Amino acid sequence: MLDFFSPCPRGLEDCLVQELQVQRAKNIQSAAGGVKFRGTLETAYRANLHSRIASRILLHIAQAPYRSEEDVYQLAARQPWLQWFRSDTTLRVDVVGNRCPLRSLDFVTLRIKDGICDYYRNETGVRPDIDTRSPIMHVQAFLSADTCTLYLDLSGEPLFKRGWRLEKGEAPLRENLAAGILMLSGWKPEQPLLDPMCGSGTLAIEAAQMALHIAPGSQRHFAFEAMENFDAALWQKVQAQALAQQRAPDAALKIYASDISLNLIPVIRANLERALGPHAGCVQVKQIDALDLKKPAEAGVLVCNPPYGERLGVQGRMGGRQAPEVDDSKEDSAPFFKAFSDVLKQQFAGWRAYLLTSDMELPKQMRLKPSKRTPLFNGALECRLFEFEMVAGSNRKN
Ligand SMILES: C[S@@+](CC[C@H](N)C(=O)[O-])C[C@H]1O[C@@H](n2cnc3c(N)ncnc32)[C@H](O)[C@@H]1O
Repeated sequence: MLDFFSPCPRGLEDCLVQELQVQRAKNIQSAAGGVKFRGTLETAYRANLHSRIASRILLHIAQAPYRSEEDVYQLAARQPWLQWFRSDTTLRVDVVGNRCPLRSLDFVTLRIKDGICDYYRNETGVRPDIDTRSPIMHVQAFLSADTCTLYLDLSGEPLFKRGWRLEKGEAPLRENLAAGILMLSGWKPEQPLLDPMCGSGTLAIEAAQMALHIAPGSQRHFAFEAMENFDAALWQKVQAQALAQQRAPDAALKIYASDISLNLIPVIRANLERALGPHAGCVQVKQIDALDLKKPAEAGVLVCNPPYGERLGVQGRMGGRQAPEVDDSKEDSAPFFKAFSDVLKQQFAGWRAYLLTSDMELPKQMRLKPSKRTPLFNGALECRLFEFEMVAGSNRKN
C-alpha cells in the first residue's frame, strides 16, 4: 500500500473524498486544502485520470521531525530516489511551510535539492538537472512547525489542466473549481443546465464531460508515466476501462452556455470540440446578454461566476441604458446585479441559481435571500457560492 495526499481548492475537500471513494481509495481523510488516502499504483492512476476536483496526486515519500536545515537535507539525502526516477531526469523542488521556524524557505528548497542531487551523485555519479519551468519530476515538501514531509508529484501539470482549454476569455475558472461548483449544486445530467456568463465555457464543458462520462484526464499525460515503476500495462487497462465507460449523448441532455461577448463564441466552440470531440454539439452555445435571458426549460440549474471588479456589462444594457464604459466599483455593478436579479425573478421561476462571487454583498445588491452560502476559494480569493431558489415571488429580501 502507498500513501498519498491530494491538494484541492479549499472548500471542495468533501467533494474530493466522494470521488476518491468511487476510485476505491482506502483510509480517506479530509484535511484543510486536501485529502489523504492510501491505495495501490492503480488507485493513483485512477485518481489522476478520473478526479475532477484534485489539483495533484502526491505520493508520500518520507516524514521526519526536524529542527534545522541540516535535518531536512539529511532526510532528502537518505531516500532511495532511484526506485522512483532515474538520474537523467529533470527535477524541481517546491517547499510549503506552515508555522515553519526556519529562516528561509528558499534555503530549505536548496538544501532538499542538494540532498536529492547528492544521493544521485553518490549512487550513479550523475546529478539530475534542475528545471524550474517544465520539470519531468517534481518533489514537494511540506514543513509544519516540527515535521518535514516529502512527496513526489505523480501528476506533473496540475490536474485542472485537462488539455482542452487552449483559448480562454477573461478570468476563467479553474476546471476543478468549476467541477466542484457543479457537484455542490447537486446538478444531475438529466436536468437542464445553463451558464449565462460562460466565458470560455468551463462550467458547461465540465458538466458535459460528466454527463458523457469522459474522464477529465483522458487528453493529457502525467508525471507517473516517466517514473521507474511505471506499469504501462496497468495504465493501459485503467485507460481502456475509462474509455469503455464513455457514453453517447442522451437526447435529454440539455446544457446551455451563453455570453454577451460575440468574440468568445468561436473560443467556446473550439474548446467544446477539443473536450467533447464528436459530441461537441450537445452544448448549445449562444451570444446573448444575460439581461435578455429567457428560461430554456421549465425547471433547471443556472450556474455562473459573474464578472466582478472588472469591466462589467460594457456591452450590456441596463434598464435600456448603455452601461458606463469603465465600471469597476461595487456601486457601479449594483444596477447590473439588480437587473439580473429581476431577470431571475421574472423568467426563472422553478430554477435553482448558483452564483460564485468574492462579493459577499451580492445577495444584498440582488435583493434576493440565498438559501445556501458555501465558502469556496478561487485561488487565494475567498468566495461564496450563493444558492437562490427561484420560486415565484417568495424569496425577496425584506
Ligand atoms: C468571470 S467571467 C466567466 C468566466 C467563465 N466561468 C470561464 O470559466 O471562462 C464573466 C463573463 O461574463 C460575461 N458577461 C459580462 N456581462 C455580461 C452580460 N451582461 N451578459 C452575459 N455575459 C456577460 C463576460 O463576457 C465574461 O465572459
